[in-house]
Amino acid sequence: MKALVTGGAGFIGSHIVDRLLDDGHEVTVFDDFSTGKNENLPDHDRLVVIEGDIRDYDALLNNMVGVEHVFHQAAIASVPKTIDDPIGSNAVNYQGTLHVLEAARNSGVQKVVFASSAAVYGDEPTLPKVETMLPVTLSPYAVDKLASEHACRIYHQLYGLETVCLRYFNVFGPRQDPSSPYSGVISIFADRLDQGLTPTVYGDGEQTRDYIFVSDVVEANMKAIANSAATGEVFNIATGNKTTLNQLLKTMCDLKGVDVAADYQQMRQGDIKDSYANVDKAAALLEWKADIELNQGLQNLFQQ
Ligand code: NAD
Ligand code: UD1
Repeated sequence: MKALVTGGAGFIGSHIVDRLLDDGHEVTVFDDFSTGKNENLPDHDRLVVIEGDIRDYDALLNNMVGVEHVFHQAAIASVPKTIDDPIGSNAVNYQGTLHVLEAARNSGVQKVVFASSAAVYGDEPTLPKVETMLPVTLSPYAVDKLASEHACRIYHQLYGLETVCLRYFNVFGPRQDPSSPYSGVISIFADRLDQGLTPTVYGDGEQTRDYIFVSDVVEANMKAIANSAATGEVFNIATGNKTTLNQLLKTMCDLKGVDVAADYQQMRQGDIKDSYANVDKAAALLEWKADIELNQGLQNLFQQ
């Protein structure tokens, strides 16, 4: 199989690339390296790395020749960044998706798997979050992800391009970059604990998240390609377990053998209070379920 991974030099995308190479496929990474890094990628004779921007339709089209499957991971992944720049982030997170879909359609790509997000659910109070809920988005990030899901659906319905949308919950694992205050919280906390610095908790720390280890997310992407029942569908990709931020920090401190008090600050704008998933649909149609519990995933991460 020949696959193209947009955002393949980033945290999740680079793990998808590793898995595709391990499985014997030819892989093209298409990434503008805005947050992605070359060092996330191996030197490999079946890997081609293109520095390109998903806002550039022609560049995408040129690089999709002969590609069967596209894993569309490229995005501005930080919710606060999209609040600071809703127009700029729409150009990447929504219009960029349209470019990927249109280039895929015009290149004869068979299937596009799209990295959507639990953020689409926003503040809808039903818990756990289930795919049939009506989303109540809280940020430009969530609006663009939801609009992208709709674009995937209509490309399937109108043009017959096979699409699958995976709503990742809070993904963690090796290569998640802690360097920005907007990075994933586990990477930031791990970094601060290692440096002996006080972690900041936004809000009272009682917000819940469903943290999923990156190898489980990679497996969900593989199932999305392999499983025809998944086509045209949207799935929660999560463990089904909820953890408060205070519990997360305590577990991380225990595993690292340190004892620190957090610095509590005002809750962030656009922040979701509670987020954890119903994962029945993924089990039934995608034939996928997460294997790695939070504790095990944290141990894997700390052993790197
Ligand atoms: P990341 O920032 O590590 O990866 C995103 C990649 O996209 C980077 O390599 C970046 O350089 C690239 N990129 C950004 N803008 C681009 C553009 N205009 N053109 C080409 N490449 C571009 O983030 P991640 O955590 O690996 O996220 C991957 C995907 O998963 C994103 O779509 C994100 O929204 C989604 N997601 C992530 C999480 C999470 O918890 N990390 C949860 C839900 C959804
Ligand atoms: C994350 C992803 C987003 C994804 C969503 C799906 C990142 C950067 N964001 O957003 O792409 O779509 O999950 O659920 O990967 N926090 C602190 N202190 C910190 C950092 C964060 O208290 O130093 C808090 C945040 O305010 C939030 C929680 O921790 O309440 C999680 O934050 P974060 O890891 O940024 O994830 P989400 O905003 O949930």
